Amino acid sequence: MIGVTTLDEFIIDRQDDFPFATGDLSRLLRDIGFAAKIVNREVNKAGLVDITGAAGSENIQGEQQQKLDVFADQVFIKALRSGGEVCGIASEENDDFVAFEDDLARNGKYVVAIDPLDGSSNIDVNVSIGTIFSIYRRKSEKGTIANLQDFLQAGTEQVAGGYVLYGSSSMLVYTTGAGVNGFTLDPSIGEFCLSHPSMKTAAKGKIYSMNEGNYYQSHKGIQTYLDNCKKQQMTARYIGSLVADFHRNLIKGGVYLYPGTSSAPNGKLRLLYECNPLAFLIEQAGGKATDGKRRIMEIQPSELHQRCPYFVGSKDMVDEIEGLLNA
Ligand code: AHG
Ligand code: MN
Ligand code: MN
Repeated sequence: MIGVTTLDEFIIDRQDDFPFATGDLSRLLRDIGFAAKIVNREVNKAGLVDITGAAGSENIQGEQQQKLDVFADQVFIKALRSGGEVCGIASEENDDFVAFEDDLARNGKYVVAIDPLDGSSNIDVNVSIGTIFSIYRRKSEKGTIANLQDFLQAGTEQVAGGYVLYGSSSMLVYTTGAGVNGFTLDPSIGEFCLSHPSMKTAAKGKIYSMNEGNYYQSHKGIQTYLDNCKKQQMTARYIGSLVADFHRNLIKGGVYLYPGTSSAPNGKLRLLYECNPLAFLIEQAGGKATDGKRRIMEIQPSELHQRCPYFVGSKDMVDEIEGLLNA
C-alpha cells in the first residue's frame, strides 16, 4: 500500500535480518498480530457485555460470556496451536504450561510465554490494558512434547518480545533484537501500520511510576528515591496496567518501579511474561531493566510464575535506583 507499511509487510521484509530463516518466526509473529486483533475487538466491546449479555449472559453465538482474560488466553492459545510454529505456551492464566501434542505443533521450533490480558483490574473502568509476550527457541528435540525446561530460559535467550496495548489507539510493539518498532491499528482497514519505527527511550526522563501505596513497605533506598523525585518536582504517573505505564515511559522517558515489599519480598510482577519481554524491549530502546541487583534478562528462572522486583526504563534513572538500593 502506498506510504503505509503494515505489520505483515514489515515482518516479511525483516525476515532477511536472520540468516537461514525459514519464515517460522515471521509466521508466529503474524499469528500473534492476528490474535491481537481479535482480542482488541472484544476489548472494545467490554462495556457492552452487561447489556448484550443480559439475557442469560450468552452471546449471539449462544456461548457463555467469558471474562476477558480467559477469553484472551484462549484466543492466543488457539492462534498459536493452529499455526504450527509453537510447541507449547506458558500463560499467566494457567498453572502449568500447555504442551501442544498434535503432530504439527510438536514439530514447532518455538515456545511462547504470555500475559494474555495485563491490567485486568482496569477492564471495568475503561482504562488501557494489554498483552505481553515472549518467544524462545525450544530446548527439547523437535517432534517431542514440550517440557518445563523449554520455558525456564533466561531472558537473554529470547528470540522476540513485545506487547499489545489496547488503548485510545491500539498498538503492537515488538523486537527481535534488531531495534524496537511500533504499529498502530487502523480499525478502518483492520491492519497494524508502522507508526513508531526504531523507538528509543531517553537516558533520563521526568516521569516516575510506582504504586506509592507501598511506600512504607518498601526498602529505604526506594523511599529515598521517591522523596528525591518529589523534591525535584518530577511527574508522578501510574495507571496500574504495566503495559500502559511502560509504553508511556518508553515514549516520554521515565522509570517504572515495582519493588519487593516487606509482605511480598519479590514484588508482584512475573519474570517470564511481564518482566523479561519488556526488559528486552527497553534494552533495545537504549534503556535498562534490573531487579535492583541483577540484569533482569540474566536471571535464571526456576519456576514458571516466578516473581521479581522490577525497575525498568530510562538508564540513568534505573542506575540511580540501583545505587540507592545497594548503598
Ligand atoms: P495482571 O492484570 O496481568 O494480573 O497484571 C497486573 C499488574 C500490572 O499490570 C500492574 O502494573 C500491576 O499489576 C499493578 O499492581 P498494583 O495494583 O499493586 O499497583
Ligand atoms: Mn500482568
Ligand atoms: Mn494478566
